[in-house]
Amino acid sequence: MTGGIDDATQRVLSILVNRGSTELIDLFKERPASLIKFVFRFRHRRISRGVWERAITMGFPGISQKLKQLILNARRDHRLMHLFARVFAEYVVDAILRLGVELPFGLPKSGIIVDAGSGYLTELSGGLVKYALQNEDLVLYLVDSGFGPSLIISETLRLLGLPKNIVFVNKNIELFPLQNVDMATLLFSLHEMSRKLYWAELMRSFGIVRLSSEMLSRELPILKRVLSSIYRILKEGGKVIVVDKEFDDYDAEFVRRIVGEVFSAIRTERIGESRFVEAKK
Ligand SMILES: C[S@@+](CC[C@H](N)C(=O)[O-])C[C@H]1O[C@@H](n2cnc3c(N)ncnc32)[C@H](O)[C@@H]1O
Repeated sequence: MTGGIDDATQRVLSILVNRGSTELIDLFKERPASLIKFVFRFRHRRISRGVWERAITMGFPGISQKLKQLILNARRDHRLMHLFARVFAEYVVDAILRLGVELPFGLPKSGIIVDAGSGYLTELSGGLVKYALQNEDLVLYLVDSGFGPSLIISETLRLLGLPKNIVFVNKNIELFPLQNVDMATLLFSLHEMSRKLYWAELMRSFGIVRLSSEMLSRELPILKRVLSSIYRILKEGGKVIVVDKEFDDYDAEFVRRIVGEVFSAIRTERIGESRFVEAKK
């Protein structure tokens, strides 16, 4: 680890020591990235307290009270969130540097790629960053409207030396200002573009909700709006790639159908547990 990040880790530890949270210190030492991800996820007020408290009790039995307190503190303590982002970004950078550049779809060597919903760069978006680091004629826009991603992506790019061809845009993809884009990617993001689907995915992990076709049909307008905004920024012949997990009726056929309502020339494939849809403007 670099000196600066060791320093951030130490500072997080001393904050936890000052708060007398022995259990959290152990968890932070053992699984720093999952603890931080959890805090970022539930820091949002858009997830109701009952829901995230339940997730904590199930995910971290035994230390749920301390963790709840940490999440409530994180809502007020910006310094702690910035330290968490620094520690997490170090993990992201390590992972990106160790990655091969094999992604399950072809990418242009030059031009513009817009990645909608880049998150914490822990899944395929991290692979896009690696690809852009090795292809400097390409410009990669990482777009995410979230608070956690904005801290973590900015910190990750800083640790990578602010690569000139990778730009972070902290906006809703529907407000992305450029056009003439060669490729847009939605990597594990499309279902999270809808608050209701995001909530339903979480509830589903407690076995409470099923992503039924009735629920999906109510969410269609927002998913179509996102896909139309992507259509608008692509150049003629530009491609869109959607990779996502399957949840109940939110399956390959569903995604293929909604992508097909906006785009043409669709190809659908499976990659392990996920599906992959490629289409052209
Ligand atoms: C599951 S994460 C994506 C993971 C990421 N693509 C990767 O491969 O590591 C989904 C992200 O989409 C973002 N998001 C949801 N709706 C959005 C929108 N309308 N515009 C931009 N970002 C959005 C969320 O903030 C979240 O960070």
